[in-house]
Amino acid sequence: MQNRIVTLDEFIIRRQKEYTLATGELTGLLRDIGVAAKIINREVNKAGLLNILGAVGNENLHGDTVQKLDLYANEKLIECLKNSGECAGIASEENEDYVPIAPMDEKESKYLVVMDPLDGSSNIDVNVSVGTIFGIYRRKSDPSGPCVLEDFMQKGNELVAAGYVLYGTSTILVYSTGRGVNGFTLDPTIGEFCLSHQDIKIPEQGNSYSVNQGYYLKFDVEMRRYIDHCSDSNFGLRYIGSMVSDIHRILFQGGIFLYPNTRKYPLGKLRLLYECNPLGFIVEQAGGKAINCSLERILDIEPKTLHQRETIAIGSPAMVDEMKEFVERYRV
Ligand code: AHG
Ligand code: MN
Ligand code: MN
Repeated sequence: MQNRIVTLDEFIIRRQKEYTLATGELTGLLRDIGVAAKIINREVNKAGLLNILGAVGNENLHGDTVQKLDLYANEKLIECLKNSGECAGIASEENEDYVPIAPMDEKESKYLVVMDPLDGSSNIDVNVSVGTIFGIYRRKSDPSGPCVLEDFMQKGNELVAAGYVLYGTSTILVYSTGRGVNGFTLDPTIGEFCLSHQDIKIPEQGNSYSVNQGYYLKFDVEMRRYIDHCSDSNFGLRYIGSMVSDIHRILFQGGIFLYPNTRKYPLGKLRLLYECNPLGFIVEQAGGKAINCSLERILDIEPKTLHQRETIAIGSPAMVDEMKEFVERYRV
């Protein structure tokens, strides 16, 4: 039991020192994401007070109604990453194209960020938890020039780090650099993320499933059979409608999250780069599994476009394995 507060900054610097070859760039980048998270947290917290609520009115690239806070979160993250000097480019759910970042003081940066600035944004107006999801890649192109589209077309298994921030009853930042998963809860009295959940491990099996069961009749037969099985097994159904919140619960309590293909979304709804890969990385790092409905490992899927959608089944390893068996047995 630790008896001393360890802040996020201290933790990432400590981790950096364990690597003799580390240059501090990734440390700086993670720290800057932490700063952006605090700024977004401040706005999310007072959303009910300001006249910032409500849809901007226009739809985003994916046909979802854009809430003002989505754009705010997007702007703040881009601003923090631009000023950080450690990021060569950003691909965001809220921007049609990637955003290249010019080197600062002629210092070339080797990292790229992919992000969903505000996940679950339809929940903002009703005071339900939302989140931020991010992933960090090393760029492939020559660092002396601007980043290119191919830099972002990397598989999830090439992620250098990934994480999320959940603006919930507490605000928590959870991240991994490929050596386990740690969580840091924001102490609002001192304005610091403090280490609160060390080396998070997902339960092997859970007793709840998370899916938008309203679409049941639009799912393929094998998915319906698996959902029937969950219900027959007396598993509880828990679905918040913010993927970050659902995954966070599953990380601690076990369970499975599903977003299969439907008639409306034949390829699934969630975005491979911004949602599936970073959360797949975190869940795998915690001992869980993440596959699509064609039973491919999420992190092994080759992206073809920035905003590519993917189906997903993610969570406790025993439950993902069982879902796989149902798909193999019942698919036509
Ligand atoms: P976003 O707010 O970034 O567009 O993401 C919403 C996503 C995800 O968080 C959630 O699990 C899912 O959409 C909910 O979709 P349905 O309303 O179709 O269930
Ligand atoms: Mn999202
Ligand atoms: Mn979003």
